[in-house]
Amino acid sequence: FQVPPAKNEPVLTYAPGTNERTELKKQLEAFRAVEMDIPMIIAGEEVRTDQKVSIHPPHELKHCLGHYHQGDEAHVHQAIDAALNARPKWAGMAWEHRASIFLKAADLIAGPYRQKINAATMLGQSKTAFQAEIDSACEFADFLRFNVQYMTQIYGDQPSSAKGIWDRVEYRPLEGFVFALTPFNFTSIAGNLPSAPAMMGNVVVWKPSKTAIYSANILMQVFREAGVPDGVINLVFASGPVVAREVFDHPEFAGFHFTGSTEVFQSIWKTIGENIQRYKTYPRIVGETGGKDFIIAHKSCDAKAVATGMVRGAFEYQGQKCSAASRAYIPASRWDEIHSEIKKQLGELKMGPPEDFTNFMNAVIDEASFNKLEGAIKEAENHPDAKVIEGGGCDKSVGYFIEPTIILTTDPMYRTMQEELFGPVLTVYVYDDMKFDETLTVLDKTSIYALTGAVFAQDRYVIEKVTKRLVNAAGNFYINDKPTGAVVGQQPFGGARGSGTNDKAGSLINMMRWVSPRTIKENF
Ligand code: ALA
Repeated sequence: FQVPPAKNEPVLTYAPGTNERTELKKQLEAFRAVEMDIPMIIAGEEVRTDQKVSIHPPHELKHCLGHYHQGDEAHVHQAIDAALNARPKWAGMAWEHRASIFLKAADLIAGPYRQKINAATMLGQSKTAFQAEIDSACEFADFLRFNVQYMTQIYGDQPSSAKGIWDRVEYRPLEGFVFALTPFNFTSIAGNLPSAPAMMGNVVVWKPSKTAIYSANILMQVFREAGVPDGVINLVFASGPVVAREVFDHPEFAGFHFTGSTEVFQSIWKTIGENIQRYKTYPRIVGETGGKDFIIAHKSCDAKAVATGMVRGAFEYQGQKCSAASRAYIPASRWDEIHSEIKKQLGELKMGPPEDFTNFMNAVIDEASFNKLEGAIKEAENHPDAKVIEGGGCDKSVGYFIEPTIILTTDPMYRTMQEELFGPVLTVYVYDDMKFDETLTVLDKTSIYALTGAVFAQDRYVIEKVTKRLVNAAGNFYINDKPTGAVVGQQPFGGARGSGTNDKAGSLINMMRWVSPRTIKENF
């Protein structure tokens, strides 16, 4: 038995005059015309409550996209029960049948649901058409298709046996349920976190970020239409503490698949540790957390490439990619050239709602994020070691808009060189060309994170040196490219240190975390 080899879903351009642009515009209008009613999905049933929470586009707070039904302890409990009830049949299903369901889900997302998921991501999470396309349509289809390929590798991997013996390994799902807690910034990641464990025969309770429920609802429709049986993936909306109490107290909690903040991950890991004796099995903990992703340019760099890497790396999707460049180290001898190229490129960028396809920047996700970013910008404006040299404007009168902002600092340990802000703010430290080696040492020590990073240089000895010296500073390391945009199947994504367990989303490593192998030895 062989599944078709996975291929990356081709990215559509949405250029003027294309069919995809016409279809996407129609879908955006259709979504704007109705207020969507979004229930939880527990055991395949739509569950509504009398606590309705309205959803607004981050770029147009006056408009209402609809509402979701907020659940409580009892709903989370029901979702866990539904998952555990579905477990025996799902865990017992031959993997090829599970794979087939998710291959169909990939075709649905790349086909009839493509403009729905893109439009939902654009409206609900304020993403441009192109950023929505590479994320919610292509990256999600890629996750599903490549994960099916990894399934074939995992289930096909068998030990060799001595004469008269048959040794075999059975790749069992985890003994219990998996909890998926998913982020707003990538719809593809929100889809991957529940589906990857489910593909390996696990049952899942899924809580999406409250700021991405509008697109999570479409993902759930895709799972159901593809044939994921009732109870295998249960979608619940309840507050973090409510869900945590039910999930992490449960003896059959067996796995946690997370993307989000370092703070939340560490606090959950502590809770899991405190409860460890309650569980039937040691839970698998897989998380991708924060980042303070860097760009370091060497004096041998191509200035234009550095500027493009900084602008695209820091400001695509308003800097809300976990991989976004948020600190840069630039040699003094090249700074003026790089800065004037950045200025030129920023001058060409427009900011506004994603429905206007000429906008490169949209709004940041919510008020808390807006306030945090505005606070950091104001602080830099008044700090002796920093100054705001580009952007800095913050306006929440219509939506949460923050201009692409660059802070220049004279202190490589300045707060925004160390702390994650998760928005369109890049901090630059200009170093003395003679102090390149010291700068590498400082860079490596500055932050607790190690997700992505990039070096720009033409000198191959320098490229080799930086690659070696910064061996633990990033899980995804780029040479002469921006540190964002990892493609499933090409650049497996994830980082270590404060950035996560580095189990590389959409990889064989990740899929292996969702099985508990049993070895069987039989004598003839
Ligand atoms: N694929 C996303 C990126 O690398 C996470 O930006």
